[in-house]
Amino acid sequence: MKIFDQAKSLELLDRAKKVIPGSMFCPEGGVYGHYSVSALAPGNPIYFSKSEGSKFWDVDGNEYIDYVCAYGPMILGYNHPVVEEAAKEQYAKGNTVSLSAPVMVELAEELVDMVSIADWAFFAKNGADPTNLSVMVARAATGRKKVIVFEGFYHGAAPWMQASGSAGTIEEDQAHVIQVTWNDYAQVERAVEENDGDVACIISSPYHHPIVVDNEMPAEGFWQKIEALCKKKGIVLIVDDVRAGFRADLAGSHEYFGFKPDLVCFGKALGNGYPISALVGTDAFRETITNVFFTGTQFFNAAPMAAALATLREMKKINAPKIMLEIGRKIMDGLVALAKDYGYDLKISGLASMPYLRITNQDAPVLTEGPAAIHKGLHADWISECVQRGAFILDYHNNFISSAHTDEDAQRTWDIADDAFKAVKKKYGDQY
Ligand SMILES: Cc1ncc(COP(=O)(O)O)c(C=O)c1O
Repeated sequence: MKIFDQAKSLELLDRAKKVIPGSMFCPEGGVYGHYSVSALAPGNPIYFSKSEGSKFWDVDGNEYIDYVCAYGPMILGYNHPVVEEAAKEQYAKGNTVSLSAPVMVELAEELVDMVSIADWAFFAKNGADPTNLSVMVARAATGRKKVIVFEGFYHGAAPWMQASGSAGTIEEDQAHVIQVTWNDYAQVERAVEENDGDVACIISSPYHHPIVVDNEMPAEGFWQKIEALCKKKGIVLIVDDVRAGFRADLAGSHEYFGFKPDLVCFGKALGNGYPISALVGTDAFRETITNVFFTGTQFFNAAPMAAALATLREMKKINAPKIMLEIGRKIMDGLVALAKDYGYDLKISGLASMPYLRITNQDAPVLTEGPAAIHKGLHADWISECVQRGAFILDYHNNFISSAHTDEDAQRTWDIADDAFKAVKKKYGDQY
């Protein structure tokens, strides 16, 4: 099988290094933010030339089946005709105008109709907008300071959401953020008791999807106990559905796990790639949010709203979560069976529509050894071999399935994975 060449991507990266600083994952510069992590992996493509359906092509002309889906936003397939037409029509009428567009009302109505707890919706751009707003609403509603989060959480890049000691943050930023262990209800209860009367909210993704470790579903009854505790103590329960939103249940991932939060944050997939996010909530918070100052120059862009409305309607029409969960399960089952043939235990965790992959024969990389450690070892090498043959998969982060992924993609991915297993077997022999 052909191994891809990255000459043009690397040429562009050299130019980028002169004008774009890097990040801790790509210290030489040229790429920053979450895109820099995969850019650091040797052999990975860095710049795309075009995209369509479940695929993209890099600037060197190589074709990839995309299991990253832009880290979540792509959910119906790139260039989805219904979504693109809706955006195009709205662009022709106007995008950023001095008034709100009627489509904003339609979109709010659609979300309120679709998401089980939603009585209202506010729109913004990135996922950190609603997560930030939701905490402000919780603090305004309760008059309390403390925010409970789960270790390994990610709610965005605002200072309070970053790890204590992160460059550019001060200790006061995280002073009222309490970290507890996922699925450890006793610890949550203890944190609430120790801060009795001062916990404004618990904010969490619907299941645990941190990086570099296996993802974890909620333990039996975990969410139901948290919900009851929040009710008893007057704590606002916030679901950060920015990443998992619409890949489990269109009514919100909380429905999939059987509980009812007060506020739910959406982002990523809401507009199938168009920049839009949303906070939805119950009537109990309508008055509070009215008093919280929240705005942004681009929050009222009408074309992303039209794209989001089309995305929601299309997802409903085709029952997108069912498609993604089924094709995701099928592809992953095939990979697990192939791995077994080579003596490897490939563990899949998280939702089948957002699978985290890890070959367990060797221990997971240790992050304290530096960012480059992420891409070292048996598992990372196998992923790298897959990427260099045309299956774009992440080694350190959950992946994403879209409703555009097909049986044909599954077969091609299995063929690629098989060749990649051969390559790592050759490198490691019977070491693992
Ligand atoms: C669960 C979760 N919450 C919030 C965010 C922040 O979203 P954004 O990067 O769009 O601000 C992310 C982004 O990855 C996320 O995965």
